[in-house]
Amino acid sequence: MKNIAILTSGGDSQGMNAAIFATVRYGLANGLNVFGVQFGYQGLIDGKVTEMTAQSVDEIIHRGGTVLATARCPEMKTEAGQAKAVATLKKFGIEGLVVIGGDGSFNGAKVLSTKYGIKTMGIPGTIDNDLAYTDFTLGFDSATTVVINSVQMLRDTMACNGRTCVVEVMGRNCGDIALYGGLASGAEVIIVPELGYNIDDVVARLQANAKVGKTDNIVIVAEGVCSSDKVCADIVERIPNINIRSVNLGHVQRGGNATLQDRLLGTRMAKHAIDCMLQGKTNRVIGIRNNQIIDEDIVEALAKTKQINMSVVELANTLSKY
Ligand code: ADP
Ligand code: F6P
Repeated sequence: MKNIAILTSGGDSQGMNAAIFATVRYGLANGLNVFGVQFGYQGLIDGKVTEMTAQSVDEIIHRGGTVLATARCPEMKTEAGQAKAVATLKKFGIEGLVVIGGDGSFNGAKVLSTKYGIKTMGIPGTIDNDLAYTDFTLGFDSATTVVINSVQMLRDTMACNGRTCVVEVMGRNCGDIALYGGLASGAEVIIVPELGYNIDDVVARLQANAKVGKTDNIVIVAEGVCSSDKVCADIVERIPNINIRSVNLGHVQRGGNATLQDRLLGTRMAKHAIDCMLQGKTNRVIGIRNNQIIDEDIVEALAKTKQINMSVVELANTLSKY
């Protein structure tokens, strides 16, 4: 293998740039030519491909977002779009493709490998941490760090007003950002899609806290359950005199520098992806399990179903009791 390409696709996440940086520099160090595709699969379809150098990834390791830009590309789900993407790879003589993205982007890579024989490697880049085969995805640590820092700031104002605050966090259908962010910020209530939403439980917790004099509470709700406004309205309906506010943290969670964990994860995963390619071990996705970088067949990895970590749920429940 001589020519490889890299693209970022779907929702951007901190750590994608660290993975781009390492793919390019480690690829070059191992005698590969590395091409960058702009705007994910859309750029592949449109032929937006340029050769990358060590200089083109200078000083990006820490930055949020992705210097290659990203896109959601419905055309890639069609045969016509896929054929155009394959034609671009052929035109540039690209033999291997590194895809950084979430499960949707991996489905694109799966199609390219199983239907068109393109050699692909997937690096999990999504803040959602919703891929079952890996303990962590790129961006999860950074986005959840944004959550805990934001909750800390909200605490300052909520506490001195005796207020409850419902905070909505991202994660699509996965509750990991809410669960880990809630545990690490000492939230009083955490609501995740995997366990469902019971307003009676939320109200009981707030009333029990009020009884012993705690009137400021943080309620974290994952977007996959419902909005913070809905939870806020449900609480007000049951406790009309409560002093309460609702905040949706939104895209701020995808911003800011990557944490140490995400920089390490991005660089280690990219190295592993290149090593696999050089060994002819392709159509695989890279992950981390028990702090070991691993690779797994893309079809098998995507067939797995993510489960919430119940021991973390139990710990959060125990520690949130006032
Ligand atoms: P993420 O990768 O973050 O999960 P999306 O689910 O939006 O984000 O997927 C990103 C892109 O991957 C889509 O816009 C599309 O171009 C491509 N994709 C998703 N599913 C498929 C599929 N079944 N076949 C081909 N391409 C797909
Ligand atoms: O998948 C990452 C993610 O940030 C989700 O948590 C969120 O639901 C979605 O992307 C937001 O998508 P967009 O940036 O297109 O609004």
